Amino acid sequence: MRVVRLESEIDFDGWRDAARALRAEGVAPEAVVWTVERDLFEGAGSFPLHKGEGKAPEVGEGRILKVPAAFVDLAKTVILHRSPERLSLLYRILHRLEAQPKLLANPADANVAKARDMAKNVGRAIHKMHAFVRFRLLEDVTPETFVAWFEPAHRVTEAASPFFARRFANMNWSILTPDACVHWDRSFLTMSPGADPADAPSQDAQEEMWRTYYASIFNPARLNPVMMKQEMPKRYWRNLPEAALIPQLIEQAQNRTDLMVTAQPTKPSERVLKAALRHSRDGSYGESNLVNLEEVAAGVQVCRRCDLWRDATQGVPGVGPALLSGRGANLMIVGEQPGDQEDLQGAPFVGPAGQLLAKAMAEAGVVRAQTFVTNAVKHFKHEPRGKRRIHKTPDRGEVQACRWWLDAERRLVAPKVILALGATAGLAVFGKAVPIGQSRGQPQPLSDGGQGLVSWHPSYLLRVPDPDAKARAYAQLVEDLKQAWTLAAEAF
Ligand code: URA
Repeated sequence: MRVVRLESEIDFDGWRDAARALRAEGVAPEAVVWTVERDLFEGAGSFPLHKGEGKAPEVGEGRILKVPAAFVDLAKTVILHRSPERLSLLYRILHRLEAQPKLLANPADANVAKARDMAKNVGRAIHKMHAFVRFRLLEDVTPETFVAWFEPAHRVTEAASPFFARRFANMNWSILTPDACVHWDRSFLTMSPGADPADAPSQDAQEEMWRTYYASIFNPARLNPVMMKQEMPKRYWRNLPEAALIPQLIEQAQNRTDLMVTAQPTKPSERVLKAALRHSRDGSYGESNLVNLEEVAAGVQVCRRCDLWRDATQGVPGVGPALLSGRGANLMIVGEQPGDQEDLQGAPFVGPAGQLLAKAMAEAGVVRAQTFVTNAVKHFKHEPRGKRRIHKTPDRGEVQACRWWLDAERRLVAPKVILALGATAGLAVFGKAVPIGQSRGQPQPLSDGGQGLVSWHPSYLLRVPDPDAKARAYAQLVEDLKQAWTLAAEAF
């Protein structure tokens, strides 16, 4: 196995030199591990110190490796994608190009299609960065300096920066991102390591200017919330002063409830946001000290504990009564993760699975207003298929990362009974895999007090093809809801 260690995530020259040398040696793609981490493969014969040579392999004499210029352009873009797979994918394509020089012209080839898709996403990320970076004036700094905080979907900070140098040539500015920061002093662009949002100012007098500008360009006749959401995903909103105007402008333009999609979440107070931000990147799994559900909701919006936030419209916190004056919801229902509709509307169980759950709850006599409904994972994990977003099951790491928010909700609601719907919720609530078919109907004590139950997830019921099996599972869900409700009412 050959291990190539690049100097950085976007080290194209390093990738090209190594790929060229490996290709010249005829090393198969399966025999190469690409990494940027240090010491991870210590002792595994890392490149360039392989074969005991102590130096990087060089391109074999007389073997000039020619690749189409289009491949070089594609590779320079693809390397900016966040997928860890990108480096090996590019080498796979390079490896095949010798025998198939026209490979890139074949859009049906899976490798080529994937690379082109990655390049398209990188292009989009650059475009979004150009559109959504907002500079704020630093107070009491001379010369006058502007700073912006931005979180690009891919590692495009450097690639996007010449645009800003041209557009804001006469300003001193810095753009801070978690990956890298770029600075312009009216002559040169320089890069420095990634930063923290706390390093950027949060508001200034320019905000009013942006808002005035945005209000003046807003054309209600052209209102298209779906397009707006696509073009301006909510995760960019918090950096956009004009975003505060959007709900108001939309409401004036068209009084329709489906415009909830574009409604900005209630703006949390400074204090709440500060508390939430503190925890949003915290890798620890210790108990949170968030004091109310508002803080949890704000924290979920800015959560970076795993990567699912990147492709989601927003985080979806739980909904229901908290432990106020010593009494929260007696029953908590935990699902897997928001689906397509929940992601757009920002509330749990409002799509097709939610409708089935609502029907079952009504049949079981469970009062939704007295129940806290939430999910194990707070962001929608999905992959695009054509125009649709297809649900993907969250993995253990994602469930574990998000458990921190669920645990905070559990502490603040203090339910007597938790009903976990499906395997992911079972894992999050009990901390171990719980087979639903064998475990349903049997309350288990929970570590934080109260009792836990499991049942079928409504999405599973929607997928069961056999009508008899579907009816049986539905009846069991109703039965389990009834049991959970009765148990919760009986508990002190
Ligand atoms: N499925 C879930 O698990 N939760 C939701 O909120 C919606 C669908």
